[in-house]
Amino acid sequence: MAETISFARGAPSLDIVDVEGLRAAAGRAFEADPAGVTAYGTAVGYPPLRRWIAERHQVEPEQVMVTNGSMQADAFLFDALVEPGDVVIVERPTYDRTLLSLRQRDADVRMVELESDGIDVAALERVLASGAHAKLAHIIPNFQNPAGCTLSGPKRRTLIELARDHGFTIFEDDPYEALRFEGDQLPRMVSLDPERVVYASSFSKTVCPGIRVGYLVGPAPLIERIVKIATSTYISPSMVSQAIVHQFCVSGALENSIETVKQALRERAHALCAALREELPDARFVAPQGGYFLWLDLPRGTDVAALFKAAADRGVQFVKGSDFVLEGGKSSLRLAYSGVTVEQIEEGVRRLADAYREVSSSLAGAGAA
Ligand SMILES: Cc1ncc(COP(=O)(O)O)c(C=O)c1O
Repeated sequence: MAETISFARGAPSLDIVDVEGLRAAAGRAFEADPAGVTAYGTAVGYPPLRRWIAERHQVEPEQVMVTNGSMQADAFLFDALVEPGDVVIVERPTYDRTLLSLRQRDADVRMVELESDGIDVAALERVLASGAHAKLAHIIPNFQNPAGCTLSGPKRRTLIELARDHGFTIFEDDPYEALRFEGDQLPRMVSLDPERVVYASSFSKTVCPGIRVGYLVGPAPLIERIVKIATSTYISPSMVSQAIVHQFCVSGALENSIETVKQALRERAHALCAALREELPDARFVAPQGGYFLWLDLPRGTDVAALFKAAADRGVQFVKGSDFVLEGGKSSLRLAYSGVTVEQIEEGVRRLADAYREVSSSLAGAGAA
């Protein structure tokens, strides 16, 4: 059996993780602050990292809390804001774990279609006008997981106006922002309206996911409420991880790491787009300008569940589009190019195209019969 090629996981490959830089940062963390690193600490996070993040976002430290990955930050925010039956707007498609987390809380999840420049704000207006009293809108503004697209500047402003008019909070879930390899940076919604928007980001995609460090930026009273939930959940997040990240950031290693990851993503995204154009001309996609993901639409009627199996038989993995929606998505899939080399991408797409030919020929055969 040939080597398995995985387009499934939204994680960086080991060759673009600065292992040596992390090891050195860990040494400095234990040397510089043995008491702070080894203590329980508090649920707000490791204070020097909290201050560093606050400065980067130009907010007060009281507006920041640092968590064990941003997934934990999402969970705390939902615990604070979402009651069973509350209407929560999400993009369609959206990050599968967010969808699961909201459904576990019995939220009334309303999916609003994504366009190539982000959520369809006219469709969102219709949902709001129909009497849905939205409590929260979860938006992944940059290089969306799974669709890869980015919310345009005008749509960011429209969303804020809608949030003000209809009284809901925007949850700006933004772990990929620093990983733009083409085009211009757009303003964060949280900087446009710090009262209406709660922002989350993470070091998982720019440093490595195993370090489990993410954070929230929001209005101080809400952060204070969430800190109480965090205290009763885990006393405090990992001070060791956060102190390592802090040393990594202040030494300048973060900026180098972002450059390394971006460079690799640019190369991999270009290779993926070229291979898809060559091998799978039936597929439709928007070329990503950053981030980890590309969303592939195959012709209507393509059975992606069958493709998933045919690809697995050839040692290729991806995530089915249907995992990112409440219903439908059956002819789409997500390809993550963050964890695969250019050679693996080329070989993986060849195998995927071969699997597609098998699946579409059996479909044509079934139709003719
Ligand atoms: C949009 C989005 N939010 C949150 C997360 C979770 O990140 P973390 O590793 O910081 O928990 C991910 C990871 O894939 C993601 O894509």
